[in-house]
Amino acid sequence: VKTQSHDYPIVITKDARKLSMSEQIVPFISGQQVLIVTNDTVAPLYLQPLQSALEKSFTVKVCILPDGEQYKNQTSINQIYDALMIEHFNRDVTLIALGGGVVGDMTGFAAASFMRGVNFIQIPTTLLSQVDSSVGGKTGINHPQGKNMIGAFWQPQMVLADMSTLQTLPPRELSAGLAEVIKYALIMDADFLTWLEDNMAAMIALDLEILGQAVQRCCEYKADIVAQDERESGVRALLNFGHTFGHVIETHEGYGNWLHGEA
Ligand SMILES: NC(=O)c1ccc[n+]([C@@H]2O[C@H](COP(=O)([O-])OP(=O)(O)OC[C@H]3O[C@@H](n4cnc5c(N)ncnc54)[C@H](O)[C@@H]3O)[C@@H](O)[C@H]2O)c1
Ligand SMILES: [Zn+2]
Repeated sequence: VKTQSHDYPIVITKDARKLSMSEQIVPFISGQQVLIVTNDTVAPLYLQPLQSALEKSFTVKVCILPDGEQYKNQTSINQIYDALMIEHFNRDVTLIALGGGVVGDMTGFAAASFMRGVNFIQIPTTLLSQVDSSVGGKTGINHPQGKNMIGAFWQPQMVLADMSTLQTLPPRELSAGLAEVIKYALIMDADFLTWLEDNMAAMIALDLEILGQAVQRCCEYKADIVAQDERESGVRALLNFGHTFGHVIETHEGYGNWLHGEA
């Protein structure tokens, strides 16, 4: 992904549980300090191997937030700041977001604002976060009066999307992520739409090879758009295709009743 601040890679793998994810990300950690931010659903699934592998080379602390969009707020951001302050972590710290879009958006915003900006790495574990929220540098939290109203553009040092994490994702969340995949086909590439029709059953059956190919194409499209228009003053708004109606449904049916992708 080419951005004004720096360029960074998106690495797509499919064996998080065998190979430790740490091998991929260690080269992108510059200092000695690491704070892994995750939530109480993802932590029991993926935290331990990552944490123990990183502990071989770094001082590693963990911040486990409650799971849910309703916790995407300033209280959770303060929990991240508290963890950083208690450990006397400084500007050399690297934050690692391990989870879906909610964890990624909050971790990115905490990284953008702690000490006026520190490095962070995205390890997205939902399909939606792998194809959309982890790429492009939009970070933030909700305000009681509106979603994503407080935030910053802040780019990660790298993104590691491991397809095997999708094996534990609830099927509804997988389908909601597929909605964003279909969105890219509709706005960018009719041939990709045909490809999706041919491969949809395989993706729903969790064929990790096919899912990886789909994630790669979506990330290429998003990287291309972000390179042209990082701050959404023009072409990046295309990524909001379908979202005008979707947001109405989400707002009026109550957040949580409809997933974003379903809406
Ligand atoms: N920054 C951006 O550009 C951007 C773009 C799109 C969406 N978003 C934001 O992303 C958020 C939605 O992200 P999301 O759909 O990933 O939701 P989410 O982060 O809430 O994750 C959905 C659920 O799946 C759980 N989960 C995550 N990974 C799992 C795994 N591997 N196995 C089992 N359970 C797992 C989570 O704990 C959660 O309960 C919203 O807050 C939205 O505003 C941001
Ligand atoms: Zn969306």
